[in-house]
Order: sequence, then structure tokens, then C-alpha cells
Amino acid sequence: MEYNIAVVKGDGIGPEVVDSTIEILDLIGEKFGHKFSYTEVLAGGCAYDVYGEPLPKSTIDVCRNSQAVLLGAVGGNKWDDLPGDKRPERAILGLRKELGLFANLRPGMLFKALEESCPLKAEIVGDGFDILVVRELTGGIYFGERGIKDTENGKTAYDIESYSEMEVRRIAHIGFEMAMKRNKKLTSVDKSNVLESSRLWRKTVIEVSKDYPEVELNHMYVDNASMQVIRNPKQFDVLLTTNLFGDILSDEISMLTGSIGMLPSASLGTGTGLFEPIHGSAPDIAGKGIANPIATILSAAMMLRFVFDLKAEADCIESAIDKVLNEGHRTGDIAKKGEKVLSTVEMTEVIKDVIKRG
Ligand code: IPM
Ligand code: MG
Repeated sequence: MEYNIAVVKGDGIGPEVVDSTIEILDLIGEKFGHKFSYTEVLAGGCAYDVYGEPLPKSTIDVCRNSQAVLLGAVGGNKWDDLPGDKRPERAILGLRKELGLFANLRPGMLFKALEESCPLKAEIVGDGFDILVVRELTGGIYFGERGIKDTENGKTAYDIESYSEMEVRRIAHIGFEMAMKRNKKLTSVDKSNVLESSRLWRKTVIEVSKDYPEVELNHMYVDNASMQVIRNPKQFDVLLTTNLFGDILSDEISMLTGSIGMLPSASLGTGTGLFEPIHGSAPDIAGKGIANPIATILSAAMMLRFVFDLKAEADCIESAIDKVLNEGHRTGDIAKKGEKVLSTVEMTEVIKDVIKRG
């Protein structure tokens, strides 16, 4: 079979981790008899440099016409002073919106081999945790009305958090569907003690829950949730939340896994699905060849599983990562003091060796 993938390497460490991932995909293709074809397009700061805008229409078109999008990361200090609509981040937000990607799945689990990289005490983590963050991705404050106006107190800027029942309903369904495939527990995170939008969120989630009587539903305020993921991460199965809260909580959870360089994500919805690591462009280490490619490689595994229905291939990648970690191979972000540190290319080679052997 031939599969068409739009590739957005982006900025910073994006190109490095995506190059690694393409090597892994090609190897999987060889091993299982598939052909992955890539169309590379620009988005983010690099697109701004060439086209004067972070998300050219040609990029959107290629992504729309592909079966999946693989994205590295966008952003960097170089573009920090651009106006909001020209910033690299607009590219990723624009792609999410244009492709209708309202559901962002961010699995946070602790690899056995990385237990010691987890900043929590062993008695809290025990034999690990496995949380799936289901983050709403095309609504809320990220896409609400925004502006800046002159007032008697000087300029006043505003960004509005708003959610419609339709938006909550469709993401809630995804959350419950995921819970049904997992441990049938869903925690909806909001701030309904303060926010009207959260009260509608909670009410709507409760309505949707009636379609999933087997799933145990509970609710948590976001401040409490941010504490609970550290106090007892094992209590969570699926964590369903809004765009902004999901952005914050998923970074927090990523640290519990040892490194933000480990967490993949899938963005799904009405159009072409997009797969990207949850980490950013990491300008401080960009170009040095030391970035951890695992989050992007695991994102590609999610692509194989969710879009192409290639389960054995996805399993092959995930178990290779597991094996490599168990064998003690580490990039800088997950290495302990004194451990040998692999470069991006070396880590990729080690993973490829395991895939070849397996
Ligand atoms: C993420 C990132 C993005 C977000 C940025 C780059 C716009 O932090 O995917 O979590 O805030 O959604
Ligand atoms: Mg984020």
C-alpha cells in the first residue's frame, strides 16, 4: 500500500526530529511492505521567512490533500517580536482550525525504564501511570474573540473563552469513546466554580455521559487537577479538558514521564489528522543534533494506528522504543548523571537496529 503524508518539519529541532522519524517510517515501510510518500511543506517561522506568512495557503492545501500530517515544531526567538497573526504559532493553530482537528490526544505514561527520571517518589508512582489527555483543540480562549482597546487605564487586551454545546459534545464523545477502550474512567477538568463556559462544559459532559453508562465520570476543578496529577497520577485514566487547560496539564504530565521529549500527540477531527510531539521547537538546543526524537517517532506510531490502521507496524515502533530504553540508551534529556548520552542520529540508529532485529 502507498500512503501520502504531508511533512511539516517547522523550526528549531523540528527538522532534526522529523528526519529521524522519516527514517523510522521508511524502515517500517521496507519491513512491512508499504510505501510512505512525503510531501514537504513549510509552516511556522521558516514559512514566514520565505512567504512572509507562517501558514501559506499552499501548505494548507497539501495537508488537506494528504492522508496525514507529520509535524515537528514551530517557533523560535527570531520571530518573537512579530505581530500575533504572523507568529509561527499561528501556523499550528491555523492548521488545527483549517483541518477541523478538534480532538487532541496526548498519552502520558511512564516507561518502566524511565521510572528514575520521574520526579515523583517511587511510593507515589508505584508501577507507573497511564493517562490519556483528551484536549479540545479548536475552541475556547485560543480561538475566541480577542482584541486590544484603549481605556482610561491604558490599553486593555482581552481573549474570550467560549464553548458551544456542540463543541463540548463532540470532544466529550471522543473522551468517552477512548475511555471505553481503556479503563472506563473519565475525569472532566473545568473551572465551573468560576467560569460560565465551564458550567456549560460540565453540564454538557454530564449529558453525553448518559450514552456511556459503563464509564465512571468524575469532575475536577483545574487547580485541583494540576495538584492531583502530582499527588496521585494513578487515579487518572482519561482526562478530558478544554484547549487552554489541556495545554497546561499536558506539559505538567509530560514532566512526570521523565521528559517532555517523550510525549507524542494525535490531533483528529473532520479533516486530515495531524501528528506531532507535544514539545516545542527548543531553540536552545536546535541544530546541535542532541534532541530526543522519541516523541515524534511515537507520534508517527499514532499515525500508523489511527489513520492507516497499521496496528502491527505501530506496535513494532512502540515496542522498539521500549526495548531501546530498557537497554539503557538515552538522549541528554532522559540521561542520568554519568550515563552515556546519544545524539539524535545515534538514538535513531539504535531504534532502527531494534526494528531490524525484531
Ligand atoms: C502545544 C503548543 C501549542 C499550543 C503552541 C505552539 C501554539 O504549546 O501544542 O501544546 O499552545 O497549543
Ligand atoms: Mg503546549
